[in-house]
Amino acid sequence: MTDFHEFFQEKTILVTGGAGAIGGNLVRRLNNLGAKKILILDSLSSSYEWNMEAGDRIQFIKGDILDEEKLRWTFKQKPDIVYHLAAHFANQNSVDNPETDLMVNGIGILKVLQYAQMVGVERFVYSSSGCGVYGLESKMPFKEDDVSIHLHTPYQVTKLLGELYTNYFHNMYDLPIVNARFFNSYGPGEVPGRYRNVIPNFFYWAMKGLPLPITGEGTETRDWTYVGDIVNGLLLMAYRDEAIGEAFNLGNGEEQRVIDMANTVNALTGNEAGITFTPRRDWDVKTRLLSCIDKSRVVLGYEPQTTFSKGLENTYEWFVENWESIDTHAEFPRVRRDVKNEQDQGVLTKPPNCVRYPNSDGDSSPSTI
Ligand SMILES: NC(=O)c1ccc[n+]([C@@H]2O[C@H](COP(=O)([O-])OP(=O)(O)OC[C@H]3O[C@@H](n4cnc5c(N)ncnc54)[C@H](O)[C@@H]3O)[C@@H](O)[C@H]2O)c1
Repeated sequence: MTDFHEFFQEKTILVTGGAGAIGGNLVRRLNNLGAKKILILDSLSSSYEWNMEAGDRIQFIKGDILDEEKLRWTFKQKPDIVYHLAAHFANQNSVDNPETDLMVNGIGILKVLQYAQMVGVERFVYSSSGCGVYGLESKMPFKEDDVSIHLHTPYQVTKLLGELYTNYFHNMYDLPIVNARFFNSYGPGEVPGRYRNVIPNFFYWAMKGLPLPITGEGTETRDWTYVGDIVNGLLLMAYRDEAIGEAFNLGNGEEQRVIDMANTVNALTGNEAGITFTPRRDWDVKTRLLSCIDKSRVVLGYEPQTTFSKGLENTYEWFVENWESIDTHAEFPRVRRDVKNEQDQGVLTKPPNCVRYPNSDGDSSPSTI
């Protein structure tokens, strides 16, 4: 039996990236569990204050994990547990901006680990990426010891690098680390955008009555995992001592086809614009992804609770409830058609009701992680 309430009520917990899609859900759950204090260190580079959990025991520190001053100040409060979720996200973003990716995901984790080791935290949980660290030669369903060094984007390289650093701190300093390998998280809280995942982007476009652009054939599969289940796994990783020094897949353990997901999104939203197909991007080489969650089940007691159809319904509900903010803040480059319209009208600023739509730079591929 897990008594999360009793456990977390005594803990000061730092969530780097706590304003983000997964971090926001984690903070909400920790707050509901009555955690003693929750510190959020986030630069808001890919998240929004309106989408953050607030409360008496939550302290938001707006800052960069590369900023020594902010780190010093944050760690002065002696967190017992660190969830390191801040990251430069994700594949296409890293291809476009490889140096920022290495700074934030490489130097960033090194700095956070150094401070965690200095104050002697009880647990350091790192958000690695299942879709990142397993390669084409890894055997499906992916098991934890079958990682690849033949990766396809800077993001995948730096997500693996993060694990190498956490392991180094464990081996060298006995830092009680755990590596969590998420598989394609989805659910309430993720605001769509150019570099975001395919599910929030599909909901956004469907709600605008636009066709859903699949980059590929649609028969590709992903192991989409509901964010609430990922949060359950993260809680268990801080709670269970058996987790220390180990890596765990946090997946759903089921494959879903991209085309079926797109059809469900269109059906839920009543979108009649259908689906379009464009070629997969160069780095997008994994046509199937599936986690093996046996180790997480046995060691952590992890068990995904949310079916894919229920998870998509919950996501749609969140979109409907937050549509105004989502529509205001979702960031996509505009199509040439709109730029041209603006020029034709002599308008330099965004015209009202301007349609924002993905272009080929978007990160709406099924394998966005
Ligand atoms: N979402 C997924 O499907 C998925 C899959 C595998 C791994 N992950 C990993 O899980 C973690 C959380 O993912 P997410 O989907 O919530 O991403 P996210 O982009 O929503 O959250 C990351 C947060 O980190 C913040 N951030 C970025 N750079 C920062 C910096 N230099 N200093 C401080 N804060 C900074 C952002 O503002 C954002 O709030 C990331 O580490 C990501 O790599 C996510």
